[in-house]
Amino acid sequence: MKVLGIETSCDETAAAVIEDGVKIISSEIASQIELHARYGGIVPEVASRQHMVSIIPVISKAMNKAHIGWHELSCIAVTRGPGLAGSLLVGTSIAKSIAAVKQLPLIGINHLEAHIYANWLSNQKPEFPLLCLIVSGGHSDLVLMQDHGKYTVLGRTRDDAAGEAFDKAARILGLGYPGGPAIDRAATKGTVSIDLPYAWMKGTYDFSFSGLKTALFRLVEKDKIKNMADAAFSFQRVVVDILVSKTIAAAKLHRVKQVLLSGGVAANRRLRQQLKEDSPIPVLIPEPVLCTDNAAMVAACGYFCLQANTTHGFDMDVVPNLKLNQVNN
Ligand code: KG4
Ligand code: ZN
Repeated sequence: MKVLGIETSCDETAAAVIEDGVKIISSEIASQIELHARYGGIVPEVASRQHMVSIIPVISKAMNKAHIGWHELSCIAVTRGPGLAGSLLVGTSIAKSIAAVKQLPLIGINHLEAHIYANWLSNQKPEFPLLCLIVSGGHSDLVLMQDHGKYTVLGRTRDDAAGEAFDKAARILGLGYPGGPAIDRAATKGTVSIDLPYAWMKGTYDFSFSGLKTALFRLVEKDKIKNMADAAFSFQRVVVDILVSKTIAAAKLHRVKQVLLSGGVAANRRLRQQLKEDSPIPVLIPEPVLCTDNAAMVAACGYFCLQANTTHGFDMDVVPNLKLNQVNN
């Protein structure tokens, strides 16, 4: 069963063809990083206009590389939220058009759920119950997953998401955009630990990184930071220590079989290494290109939604603040 996935929620225009939810046949990503770098962050209107320019060529490339015709697809899966409204509208409009003309089922995908499903594209398959830490530009969510489509959010960010914290810290340190990869790179050259505050949010599985960002800003303001690599190293250490230790504590408490990592920040080398080293429970992490935004994860998620008969009508709207659909327990 082949699914075409389409992703335009933020600043990557992506399309992919996936077989049986687990095998990548083709995956194309047109990044807008260079376009937004001059502004130091994503400009929503610029993003949606660039999606308009890139979307047809990206879908055509994914279909051509997959060597399949439209009639061989089982459905079209497209991100409907969370994300930037204008960007989401480009992807959903084209997905509806293709589904209408080619008479294919349409599935609106939750972008956070898609990030989790990137883990089904690894060689080893996840086992339930599992715990997934989703760390992206807009989210830091600790999610317990009992089965396909069954989620309980144990904790989330109270202020800045992990990726947002990386991006803001990089701006404070003058390391450029996008901040996550810039800090990841700079941190490898850092050796001296600078004292920064840990917000443990004791008694909860929630996260808070805005105090850490402010502490870093105050040190820069007072000219107390002499070496940017040491600052990047120290900032990354605090974020990773908190993410890893809370994830492992929740995984042990809920006796899960597997710990998953996903979202753009899951590309961070220290986070990947420390979680694998410290967790007594087996850890699965997608390869870095499947951690940041892509359409392969959207198509993988679409396959499992189709198995559960979850499809959408042509009146489907985008939902910029879409949440994970939680089970009641
Ligand atoms: O999942 P994603 O591509 O888009 C959203 O859904 O938000 O995540 C983007 C975030 C950005 O904040 C970016 O700085 C961060 O992921 N990121 C990283 C790394 N690569 C991307 N953060 C830390 N280390 C990295 N290597
Ligand atoms: Zn994302």
